[in-house]
Amino acid sequence: MKLRVLPLAFVAVLAWSCKEKTAEEVKPESIKELFAEDFLIGTAVNNGQINGDASQASLIAKEFNVLTAENVMKSSLIHPEEDTYNFEMPDKLFALAEKNGQKVHGHTLVWHSQLSPFIAAIEDSASMAEALKAHIEAVAGRYKGKVYSWDVVNEAVEGDGSLRQSVFLKTMGEGYLPWAFKMAAEVEPDADLYYNDYSMTGKAKRDGVIKMVKKIQESGAKIDGIGMQGHWHMDFPTIQEIEESILAYSALGLKVAITELDIDVLPNPQGVSGAEISQSAELKAELDPYTDGLPADVSAALAKRYADIFALFYKHRDKIDRVTFWGVNDGDSWKNGFPVQGRTNYPLLFDRNNQRKEAYDAIMKVKDK
Ligand code: XIL
Repeated sequence: MKLRVLPLAFVAVLAWSCKEKTAEEVKPESIKELFAEDFLIGTAVNNGQINGDASQASLIAKEFNVLTAENVMKSSLIHPEEDTYNFEMPDKLFALAEKNGQKVHGHTLVWHSQLSPFIAAIEDSASMAEALKAHIEAVAGRYKGKVYSWDVVNEAVEGDGSLRQSVFLKTMGEGYLPWAFKMAAEVEPDADLYYNDYSMTGKAKRDGVIKMVKKIQESGAKIDGIGMQGHWHMDFPTIQEIEESILAYSALGLKVAITELDIDVLPNPQGVSGAEISQSAELKAELDPYTDGLPADVSAALAKRYADIFALFYKHRDKIDRVTFWGVNDGDSWKNGFPVQGRTNYPLLFDRNNQRKEAYDAIMKVKDK
């Protein structure tokens, strides 16, 4: 009897310890691993990170599987004059992504901000079409086959749902929208092509975007996805508004991406909403309350906010292709300078010393429930 029991007990212990080991082995060690079966996890990178800044290099490789250029692929930087292209930093970005085994999301081909001055000065339709064609051919053409997805058009719709009176609309009329998508698809047929914008949860804007996208689809142009930038705040948009928007965009038969996620923890200056980068407000002490660090209660609230948002993303993982954070650590974030210059903000998952924040840990528990 004894002889039989002993080996059985031994086998049971062995099986148990193997099981434990397997569970430990599959425990995700990064946010990209946690959501590997669900959606891509990305970050925006700027010059320092592209140049391999040692303080963040391994973190970027470990946590993210897709990179977006925060600035270096925007027209005023990559194509500042008609015959001048700056490909050095974008090339380095692609090399970094290749080294890390990451994808690259291209940001952005047609945008009224950070626009090359020579394009901004164009006054007639033919010259605008010629300039944009040259731009798309040169930029999307250079990285053909290496780009996972492109923001073809960025921020073409106003808060009331009307089309922005941009230089593109003024010169080419609304036909510039399907035209840009067709042009991008000709040059780069393999990448997913996106329309990207901020405040994508507002009802009027959402309706305007949907109307515009339907026209693009009806024109026969290839459009694959809608990017919701996700420059959000602690109390707005609500989870319900975000959910309704994901569902509405997905109902167009398109992929949805959250493309520039950050959560502003600071008081919002009056009269400023959305992420139109030309907006600004004056620095006042009451708008900058956490210069000495993020209080524990705000840190906990931010963690809950991120957990709620990621629980929603996870719920709709069949519709969401990618979630990209707009920067790596709080010190990098553009939200220290927008819409008020010189504040101390805490919108991301890593602190100013690249340490994981409470918000990071909260997201890592989202799938436990
Ligand atoms: C921001 C960058 O983060 C800043 O560094 C830059 O000074 C201005 O642009 N919407 C977009 C992004 O599509 O490209 C913007 O990025 C933020 C708003």
